[in-house]
Amino acid sequence: MRDWTGSVAFVTGGARGIGLGIARALARRGVGLALADVDEPALHASAEELSGVTAVRTYRLDVRDRDGFAAAADDAEEELGPVDLLFNNAGIVPHSTVDELSYAKWDLALAVNLTGVVNGVQTFLPRMLERRAGCIVNTASGAGLVSDPSLLYATAKFAVVGLSESLRLNVAGRGVDVSVLCPGPVDTGIVANTRRSHAEVGLSEEYVPAVEEFLRGGPSVDEVGEMVLAGVEAGQTWIFTGDEIRPHLEKRAAALLDAFRSAP
Ligand SMILES: NC(=O)c1ccc[n+]([C@@H]2O[C@H](COP(=O)([O-])OP(=O)(O)OC[C@H]3O[C@@H](n4cnc5c(N)ncnc54)[C@H](O)[C@@H]3O)[C@@H](O)[C@H]2O)c1
Repeated sequence: MRDWTGSVAFVTGGARGIGLGIARALARRGVGLALADVDEPALHASAEELSGVTAVRTYRLDVRDRDGFAAAADDAEEELGPVDLLFNNAGIVPHSTVDELSYAKWDLALAVNLTGVVNGVQTFLPRMLERRAGCIVNTASGAGLVSDPSLLYATAKFAVVGLSESLRLNVAGRGVDVSVLCPGPVDTGIVANTRRSHAEVGLSEEYVPAVEEFLRGGPSVDEVGEMVLAGVEAGQTWIFTGDEIRPHLEKRAAALLDAFRSAP
């Protein structure tokens, strides 16, 4: 069993949803928490909930803001101690039909869902390597392993999986672990949150009820928080939250191997 005592975690998108589920699971183990999010009222509510359980600091941080990331990291380490657990989890679920794609939409989707992860890695990895101690968990998605028609989302999430797998290889033996969280549906408000914060890539109203119902069929954020920490304890490369993508993954693997076999 990992000894979590004295650890400090930096969780992006930590004010709500999966990030908050992870934060709660960490708090139960006495881990100090730096919660970063763009949503200040939600951050305050989370801090109020968790500060009775563990030490908590909050940062109003947009993961696209590199200077803000560095400043939050400095402050968190000064206030709480060295950050040895990084959860690059903040994200949105951007949508566009192919006919309505634009550079602005691509830039937004990739900046939040991919560059946000890069910024977290670039902020904390050098510190972790220097101390030869750390664990990074990047939140991708099942949609980062099997394609679906959500083009903007799939592009970023496949990249987060690739980044995480490659980073894991690069830091092997240097005291830093890397995992990638690939959730199936999880019961969060991500659809409504994205529609509110980035209406230009929000899911069209007509599709909202079906997608939200699909997400409600998944585990709670608290269940996911525990799954994530179990995955960290086990040193897993990929952390899953259910079986939903297994048949799609099997199909993809079979199709890839078929293509390989039929290559000249
Ligand atoms: N809910 C699901 O079914 C599901 C499935 C697969 C993957 N995911 C991924 O899990 C992660 C968390 O999603 P969630 O479902 O908990 O959503 P959520 O909307 O409940 O929480 C996401 C949090 O990230 C914050 N955030 C958004 N953009 C940000 C930015 N630029 N900088 C800082 N914070 C920002 C939001 O304010 C919010 O508090 C995302 O990366 C998402 O893609 C979710």
